[in-house]
Amino acid sequence: MSTTTHPTPQAAITVHGPVALITLEAPPVNALGQSVRQLLANALEEIRAHQAIRAVVLTGTDRAFSAGADITEFGGTTTGITLPELVDRLEDFPVPVTAAIAGVALGGGLELAMAAHSRVAHPDATLGLPEITLGIIPGAGGTGMLPRLVGAERAVDMILSGRRIGTTTAVEYGLVDAVLHSGDFAGAAVAWAASRLPATPGPTEGAPTPGPATPTRTRDRTEKIADAAARPGTIAKLASGPLRKAKDPYAARAAVEAITAGIEEEFDAGATAERRLFLERVASPEAAAQRHLFAAERATRKPAGLDATSARDIGQAAVIGAGTMGGGIALALATAGVPVIVVETRQEALDHGLAQVRRNLDVSVSHGSRTSGQADEQFARITGTLDYADLAAADLVVEAAFEDLDVKKDIFARLDANTRPDAVLATNTSYLDVDAIAATVADPGRVLGMHFFSPANVMELVEVVRGARTTPQTLATAVALGRRLGKCPVVVGVCHGFVGNRMLEVRGRQAEALLLEGALPGQVDDVLTGFGFRMGPFAMADMAGLDIGWRNRTSQGTTAPVSDALCEAGRFGQKTGSGFFAYDGRERSDDPETTRIIERVSAEQGIDRRDIGSEEILERLLYPMVNEGGRILAEGIAERPGDIDVIWVKGYNWPAYRGGPMFHAEAVGRGHVAERLVHHAEATGDETLRPVAWLTAPGGVDGAGAPR
Ligand code: CAA
Repeated sequence: MSTTTHPTPQAAITVHGPVALITLEAPPVNALGQSVRQLLANALEEIRAHQAIRAVVLTGTDRAFSAGADITEFGGTTTGITLPELVDRLEDFPVPVTAAIAGVALGGGLELAMAAHSRVAHPDATLGLPEITLGIIPGAGGTGMLPRLVGAERAVDMILSGRRIGTTTAVEYGLVDAVLHSGDFAGAAVAWAASRLPATPGPTEGAPTPGPATPTRTRDRTEKIADAAARPGTIAKLASGPLRKAKDPYAARAAVEAITAGIEEEFDAGATAERRLFLERVASPEAAAQRHLFAAERATRKPAGLDATSARDIGQAAVIGAGTMGGGIALALATAGVPVIVVETRQEALDHGLAQVRRNLDVSVSHGSRTSGQADEQFARITGTLDYADLAAADLVVEAAFEDLDVKKDIFARLDANTRPDAVLATNTSYLDVDAIAATVADPGRVLGMHFFSPANVMELVEVVRGARTTPQTLATAVALGRRLGKCPVVVGVCHGFVGNRMLEVRGRQAEALLLEGALPGQVDDVLTGFGFRMGPFAMADMAGLDIGWRNRTSQGTTAPVSDALCEAGRFGQKTGSGFFAYDGRERSDDPETTRIIERVSAEQGIDRRDIGSEEILERLLYPMVNEGGRILAEGIAERPGDIDVIWVKGYNWPAYRGGPMFHAEAVGRGHVAERLVHHAEATGDETLRPVAWLTAPGGVDGAGAPR
């Protein structure tokens, strides 16, 4: 976390007739750290002493009601009042409490709001229990309260996915009682609370729409869980789908256990189970990994030399190429509200590309993630052309053409001639030399890489490749655009494959070597899926198509003996029904023919095949990647180990609960990784496996790769 200083937190009380308003201001996001919890507890005590107060409104700032527990406190010891205790005090408060939510109400913040007796929200509020994305579960009654407010099915979905919902959905779910549109949000919330004062005798007797005499606690609202409570096994059934999709199976299983106890037993039993499981998860290595990623992702937003304020606004973008990548990038831009011109060389290719974009939009409408009105509006932002002269109005161009240096150089020369001299020019190359491409433009300062991942409208990662001459303003503009697209831009330097693909190649080389030495594709893939990857390297290669790599190797004069032999046999992967595996549709199985080919190639290479254990497979796949990461840091291609971790988690499905390759090396010990690499270098004779300074230097090396 950064060291930005913020004003001292406050929980100010103002009294408006019979209603007391508590306004929490603990910048930046009203996280509920120890001092903030105490401030709220003190405010409640102070109000409790005033007989004339008949209702309380608790609100935050425009940005945040509260972003939940203070993540930086996890892993330390809790002092003072705990969040569950604060939640208990709120729900047992003698007069009704209304949570008035503007900005975010997340995690413990939403739990606090749910413990209030009613909730009102600003139209732009965001609510959710995202704990699972931090490897934990709600820890202050959330697993019991949410089902009572929204029903079991929606609660299971929200808790297991960590999904955040907007005000409209929250009202539909019953999580929010009213939307307040007023410019004076807090004032409107006070008026709303005053209009619902209990019909008990008192100074404001006869209020227009009286509320109940005693506030109803959320824990006592059982109508929405009655069915699930009456049918044991309902939660297990509802959770089976989300559990399969859960990114952190450990936290997901813990959440299901707590929700089940809170419904099938009773609220208190659930709260006890929840607390136990919460504490267990908070202390787990999986949660530590995800906290690391939370901080690492935020750190990527602050690359050295980036002046975010210098970013230029993009009013008109353009994309060169209407293929899969170009179409995906155009869709990402249009979705974010940026008008985009797509340039192709042939009308047929343009029509085909735009039709594919339209199909993708239609699919998302049928899945309910867009309305058809939104899809039409977004598609209308995309125009096609065959004429580079139409790029005169573009503020930024992303080139997503064929991966060939000469093709790209030619395109950039044309961009130089047809775009404004201050337009940013980005290449989506995945491997090529961004500086060589930039050299074809009169002002290389306006050139950089924006390496999107497929499907570009879905995948969050963008490697923003800073060339040797890229200006700070060009860099800031690309990063700001990446964020505007809702993506996670990570700044990297120029080298073959940048960070992600360079490390992927290293893993690929080891995977091939393992096949030659004695392993089989299914065995290798199982080890990686067992580690937590969704897919192993060979299933991934089959999906992408083996012919692409084969063609590249042939043109570069390099080889990958097993992959090459499979291609020579016409086995290009899923699309030809066989590759490393055999396919029946998408169904994958081990293929004896692959085994025969592998054994033949091993024999041709004079290799005596041997049994290779899972541990060796895992080490040989992962540790060389870490080693390459060390080289990448030493060369300054990535600024921090955390940047590499974010790239691998967001772009290559490294399991978040294992924190990324560099975090994993820290977790098992850099010294241990170094030792095992020495062992494998000696056993295989592969000198590239010798550990680099990041692993061996005493005390490690700092983020820039220099020995500390
Ligand atoms: N605790 C501590 N710090 C937090 C925080 C939290 N819960 N949430 C955000 N911050 C910090 C960020 O680290 C960042 O700090 P720096 O400026 O020093 O980098 C700052 O607040 C601003 O955050 P963002 O840069 O992320 O700003 P944003 O506007 O893009 O997003 C946000 C704001 C939506 C709140 C986002 O930060 C977020 O999603 N936060 C995490 C929310 C969350 O997961 N809450 C659950 C916590 S666990 C819990 O509550 C358990 C429980 O039940 C007891």
